[in-house]
Amino acid sequence: MTAVSEVSPDPIVYLNGELVPLSEARVPVLDRGFIFGDGIYEVAPLYAHASGRRTAFRLKQHLTRLARSVGKIGIANPFDDAGWRELIGRVAEANETDGGLRADQDAIAYIQVTRGVAKRGHAFPAGVKPTVFVMVTPLSLPGAAQRASGVACVSAEDRRWLNCDIKSVSLLGNVLMAQYAAENDAFETLQFRDGLLTEGSSSNVWIAKDGVLAAPPRSNKILEGIRYGLIEELTAECGIRFEARDITEAEVRAADEIIVSSATKEVLPVTRLDGAPVGAGQPGAVFAALYAAYQRAKAAEAAAAQEGVENESRERLTV
Ligand code: PDD
Repeated sequence: MTAVSEVSPDPIVYLNGELVPLSEARVPVLDRGFIFGDGIYEVAPLYAHASGRRTAFRLKQHLTRLARSVGKIGIANPFDDAGWRELIGRVAEANETDGGLRADQDAIAYIQVTRGVAKRGHAFPAGVKPTVFVMVTPLSLPGAAQRASGVACVSAEDRRWLNCDIKSVSLLGNVLMAQYAAENDAFETLQFRDGLLTEGSSSNVWIAKDGVLAAPPRSNKILEGIRYGLIEELTAECGIRFEARDITEAEVRAADEIIVSSATKEVLPVTRLDGAPVGAGQPGAVFAALYAAYQRAKAAEAAAAQEGVENESRERLTV
């Protein structure tokens, strides 16, 4: 049998009201997530700190996007923000106690909501309860070596649907792009639609030219990463000009720098694209400034969160 045992030790997960070991968590095969990919998800970082506390980063924005995703596909949000925070906190704490998550490990909260279980039929069934799944597992951020060398990417035509703004679990298009990268010893596939940059298989993409940072505008053609708004803020803080605009394939290939961003990668420099060096072939000054500013933003949010709970009973977790 394949395996959940691959995830070791067995984390404690939340499924439909219960905390259970991942190896025992089951959904019926008629769950519409399984049958139709009819559901949405979120991935939010929880950072560990020397104090032993763990703090979420930009969780408010992640929960707002989650609410938007369920709203866009007509699922009633199973929890309000406070409910989700409480739930993520419970799962994280359970894993610190029983699931093998060390207090000094950064973690990722994975949340999935599907329309629920019903007799197979494409249109929304009446009266079904959404399936709710929350998992908190260790996060391995890219290391210093990877940041120093940058990563190699390949490119491909974006053949996905036109609702990429919904964080849908229907990820076949993204899966194929990630596999294309893997088969070409690349970290990520940068996609183009009609000659314009969209995004990676699981990341947003940025280019820098002459010190100006640009990214494709928010639209239905990309998922608006939580790092999108964050990086916009960081450019202002760093005095870097930012432009949200259409970016041609030629511009990407002529860029001084390319950067990818996501919850699990933070920001990473791309130093080769389709076998050719990006700019000087080394991480650039815009990346360096954004990476430093990102780390400052993490520290600032953690400090604010810790201050906020100083008088609360919850000792270790601040979500
Ligand atoms: N993916 N675009 C796509 C298609 C993504 O899947 C992601 C993130 C992003 C960046 O979003 P954010 O900054 O909120 O992580 C953009 C997550 C990490 C995943 O699927 O695991």
